[in-house]
Amino acid sequence: ATVYRLDYTASSFLADRIDLVFDLAPSVTQVRATTELHRNPDSENRDIVLYGEELELVRIAMNGKVLAKPDYATDNGELRIPDAPDKVTLVIDTLLHPDQNTSLMGLYLSNGNFFTQCEAEGFRKITYFPDRPDVMATYTVTLRADREKYPVLLSNGNLVEEGDLPNGRHYAKWEDPFKKPSYLFALVAGNLVCREETFRLADGRDVLLQVWVEKNNLDKTAHAMESLKHSIRWDERRFGLELDLDRFMIVAVSDFNMGAMENKGLNIFNTRYVLANPRIATDLDYANIESVVGHEYFHNWTGNRVTCRDWFQLSLKEGLTVFRDQEFSADRTGSESGRAVKRIEDVRTLRQLQFPEDAGPMAHPVRPDSYQEINNFYTVTVYEKGAEVVRMYQTLLGRDGFRKGMDLYFKRHDGQAVTCTDFLAAMADANGRDLSQFERWYSQAGTPRVKLQSHYDEKNRTLTLILSQSCPQTPGQTEKQPFLIPVAIGLLDSHGKDMPLRMEGDKAAPNSRTLELSEESQTFTFIDVAEKPVVSALRNFSAPVILEYEQSDDELLHLLSHDSDHFNRWEAGQRLALRRLLSLTKAVQADRTLTLDSAFIDAFRAVLTDTALDPALRELALTLPGEMMIAEKTDEIDPAATHRARQFMRRTLAENLEKEWLNAWQENRTEGAYRPTPQDAGKRALKNLALSYLLLLDKPAYGRMAIDQYHTADNMSDRLAALTSLVHSGWTDKLPEAKALPDHFYREYENEALVIDKWFSLQATSPNADTATVRKLMKHPAFTLKNPNRARSLIFGFCHNNMAQFHAADGSGYTFWSENLIELDRINPQVAARLARCMDQWKRYIPSLRKPAEQALRNVSEQSLSRDTREIIGKTLSA
Ligand code: ARG
Ligand code: ZN
Repeated sequence: ATVYRLDYTASSFLADRIDLVFDLAPSVTQVRATTELHRNPDSENRDIVLYGEELELVRIAMNGKVLAKPDYATDNGELRIPDAPDKVTLVIDTLLHPDQNTSLMGLYLSNGNFFTQCEAEGFRKITYFPDRPDVMATYTVTLRADREKYPVLLSNGNLVEEGDLPNGRHYAKWEDPFKKPSYLFALVAGNLVCREETFRLADGRDVLLQVWVEKNNLDKTAHAMESLKHSIRWDERRFGLELDLDRFMIVAVSDFNMGAMENKGLNIFNTRYVLANPRIATDLDYANIESVVGHEYFHNWTGNRVTCRDWFQLSLKEGLTVFRDQEFSADRTGSESGRAVKRIEDVRTLRQLQFPEDAGPMAHPVRPDSYQEINNFYTVTVYEKGAEVVRMYQTLLGRDGFRKGMDLYFKRHDGQAVTCTDFLAAMADANGRDLSQFERWYSQAGTPRVKLQSHYDEKNRTLTLILSQSCPQTPGQTEKQPFLIPVAIGLLDSHGKDMPLRMEGDKAAPNSRTLELSEESQTFTFIDVAEKPVVSALRNFSAPVILEYEQSDDELLHLLSHDSDHFNRWEAGQRLALRRLLSLTKAVQADRTLTLDSAFIDAFRAVLTDTALDPALRELALTLPGEMMIAEKTDEIDPAATHRARQFMRRTLAENLEKEWLNAWQENRTEGAYRPTPQDAGKRALKNLALSYLLLLDKPAYGRMAIDQYHTADNMSDRLAALTSLVHSGWTDKLPEAKALPDHFYREYENEALVIDKWFSLQATSPNADTATVRKLMKHPAFTLKNPNRARSLIFGFCHNNMAQFHAADGSGYTFWSENLIELDRINPQVAARLARCMDQWKRYIPSLRKPAEQALRNVSEQSLSRDTREIIGKTLSA
C-alpha cells in the first residue's frame, strides 16, 4: 500500500508517558508496556490506533480491565480500540523472539548482545504503540536480564535504579526526562565495556561521556571519544546549542543496517563508525568516524529536540544534520584549503550518487510525496541533496542570517514535531525575506540545469551573463516551476586575478557575488569590466544543479591554474578530463586509436608538481572522474568502453608523468608517528595515488616498491593502499613476491572484522574480479550474508562499485545480483532493497545489456518479496 504525504491526519490519541519493562532472553523476551494516553483535541477520531508488527500479544488491559475482542480489533499491523474514553492507561504484554530477528529492526541480537533499532518504524516490533513521530512521550525503562551474560543494561536518559534479582538476574531502571517520539527509543544489554570521561560544558555543567564496545575493542575507542568532545564544543560555539543530558552514550554494534542512530542519550553506531586505531583504520575511516559521531550528536537538537511531524519530513532533520556535520568537518580541518577539500568530497558524493538517483526511476523530491516503505527513502536525495538545500539558505542569507533562522526555529519549535515548511518559515521570518519560491526545492524532484551564456562588450566594457534554468521530468512530475537558485560568480583577468564585479548603481564591487536566479531566464550586466574575463561560475558549488556553460580548453586551463575559488579550480580540471574521457569512450566504441593531447598532460603535470598547492587538493585534482560520472554524461551507457577509456587515460598519465609520480611518492611521506590530521592524510592520499599510477606501468620495480610499503607501513592507510593497488593492477598475479599478500593480510587481521570487510571489498572491486572471483570469495568461511557490513563489502562492492565487471556482456553480473538479492531479501529486507538499487539505470545501458538486465529484474519480481524490495523492483521495471 502506498502512503501519501497529503493524507496526513493527526493522531487520535497522544501518549504522555510510557513505562516499559523488559525481561530479556534471546529466544523469548517479555515486554510490558504501560502507556498513558489522552484524546487529541485536534482529531475527530475516537478510536485508539496502535501499530504492532510480528508481536505475540499476551494481554491487553485498559484502565484496569482486560480487553478481549471485539473490545479491540487487530488488522494488518494495527490494533484499534473503538470509541475509547478520553483518558486511558493501557497495559500491554507482548512476547518477542530476538534470536529470530534477522531484519535488525526492533529488538535483535548481535554477537549475543541485545540491541534495538527503531527508526523509522521499528518500535512497533517491540510493543503496540502509536509509533509515529508526532506522538511524543516521556519514557521510563526497566531492563531485567541474566547478570553474568548481560552485565550492562542501558537505555535512554539517566540511570535511576539498579540491583539484583533472584536466579542470577539483575535489573536497571532508566528515565529519560525529555519527551520523545518512539523512533528514538533504545536499549542495549550485554557484555560490554566502556571508555568514559567527565566533560565540562560551556555552561559549567559536568557530563559523563561513554563509548561502549566489546572488550577486545576498547583500544579502538579514543578517536570516537575525541570526536564526541569536538562535536559538543562545535555545536556550542557555532550554534549556541548545549548538551541537555547529564550522560551521553555511544554504543558500537557490528550488525547494523545503516551508519548510526541518534537515540536520545544512547546513540547506537555501526562499529565501522566508532572503532579506530592506526593498525585497523584508514584516514578515511578516521574522518568518517568524526563526521558520523558529529552527525548523531547534532541530531540531539536537529531531530530530537525538534523532530519530524511525519516521515515525509525526514529531510527536515537529515538534510539539516548532514549540513551541520559537513560544516563541522570543514571547520575541523582548520584551513581554507581544508574546507575546500571537504566541499569537493561532498560534491563528488552528490554527483556520483544523488544525481543518478534524481535522474532514475527512484527520483523523488527532498520531501517525498508518497512511499510504500519508508526505509527506502533514507536516500542520498533526502540526506545529501537535503543538505545542499539547507546550505543554500546559508548562501542566500549569509552565515549570520542562517544563524538567526536557526535561533528562531528552536525558539518556535523546541519540543515539537514539525515540517520542512516550518523550517523555511523560520529562515524567512528571521531574515525578513519572502522565501516562498524556495519551497520548490522541497517539492520538485530532478536536478535542475542552469545554462549560462556570457557576452563581453569591449567598447562599453560590460559583461552580460544570461542565466536560464530548466528541470527534466521525473516520475509523477512532468511540469516544473523555476527554482530560486543562488549562482556564485567570479571573474578572472588574464593574469588569473579576481576582477571586481560591479552592477549599475553599486557602491561596492566584490570579487565574488551570488546572483539569484529565480525566473526561467534572467540577464545580469556588469560594468567597468576592464578586459574580457574568464568566468568562474557556480563557485563553491553554490547550488545542486548541472551547469551548462561552454568554455574552451584554454579558459578551463586558466581556471585550473588560477581560480581563487579552490572548488572551481578542481572543477576545471574535472571538466578537462571529462571532455577527453567522453571522446575516448567514443573512440573505444568505434575501435579508433586512443590518444591524449599533450596540453592536458602538461596541465596535470603542473598540478602534480605545484608544491604550493595542498597535497590533498592535488590528489583530488589528479583523481579522474569515476566511471559512473562519465557514464552519466553519455546517451547510452557502455560500461566496458568507459572503463577502457579511463584506464587508457590513467596509463597514459602514468607513462608521461612517471618521474613526477615517483617524486610525489617520495616527497609525500609523512614524518613521525601516525596522525590522522588533514595535512598528513592529504600527503598519504597523494602519495598513494602516485603509487597507484606507477603500478600501471610494466615495471616490477614499482611492484616491489608497493610490496615494501605494504610490509613497512605503520598504519592501515598505507598498507591497504599498497595492497589495493597491487591487486587492482594485477601485480598479485604477475609478481611472485606479491602473490601471498592477500593471504598474509587476511591472517594478520583475521580477528578484526572491519579489516576483513576491507579485504573482501578490495577484491570485489578489482577490475580483474568477475563473478567467478566473487562467488569463490562467498565460499570463504569468513563470509556471511547475515552481517550487513560483510554483505556490503563483497556483494555491494561488486555490484555497485565494479561497474565494468558487474555489467559484463554475458549478463553474468545480473544473474549473480538476482540470486543474492532473493536470498538476502529473506534475511534482511532493508539491506536487500539497497542491493536492488544497483539496477536503477538499466534502461540507459547499451541495448545488448538491457535484455539480460530486464530478465534478471523479472526473475526477481516473480519471487515473493518484502515490501522494501518490491517497491524498488516495481519502480525500476515500470519507469
Ligand atoms: N537517523 C539515522 C541517521 O541518519 C539513520 C537511521 C536510519 N534507519 C533506518 N532504518 N532507515 O543518523
Ligand atoms: Zn541522521
